[in-house]
Amino acid sequence: MGKPIYVLNGPNLNLLGKREPEVYGRDSLDDVRAMAQKRAEGLGLSIEFRQSNDEGELVTWIQEAREKAQGIVLNAGAYSHTSIAILDALQAAELPVIEVHLSNIFRREPYRQHSYVSLVAKGVICGLGPKGYEFALEAMAGLVTAGKRG
Ligand code: DQA
Repeated sequence: MGKPIYVLNGPNLNLLGKREPEVYGRDSLDDVRAMAQKRAEGLGLSIEFRQSNDEGELVTWIQEAREKAQGIVLNAGAYSHTSIAILDALQAAELPVIEVHLSNIFRREPYRQHSYVSLVAKGVICGLGPKGYEFALEAMAGLVTAGKRG
């Protein structure tokens, strides 16, 4: 199966389902994990699915991914809009990155409309709820297969 895809989630995403359901939906993060797991299996990928409220821990996981993963799907939550440390870690990882947001950040407040993660992401999926994680894994399957060929 090869190395896993790291599916990393940032701050407050542990509250998914309870937090502003009109914005983020009613599925919990465990529901999202189960959907992502199932889709990954169908694609012949394995995933390492994690969440942290801590910027430094996310940086550490991205550094770990450099050695242990073949790609990163990242919903960095609010750190997407603020964290140069996460951007630096992603740059250093030298892996394909797909950025996911449950909500459509471009329909929201101006401060959500810039993302540092986007500067290194191969693609960005936003506004499609938990399905975005499935689409990200589908895109990642294509990217890692293309990488093997190339
Ligand atoms: C989010 C969008 C961010 O602006 C916000 O801070 C989040 C969640 C999303 O998935 O829509 O925490 O990344």
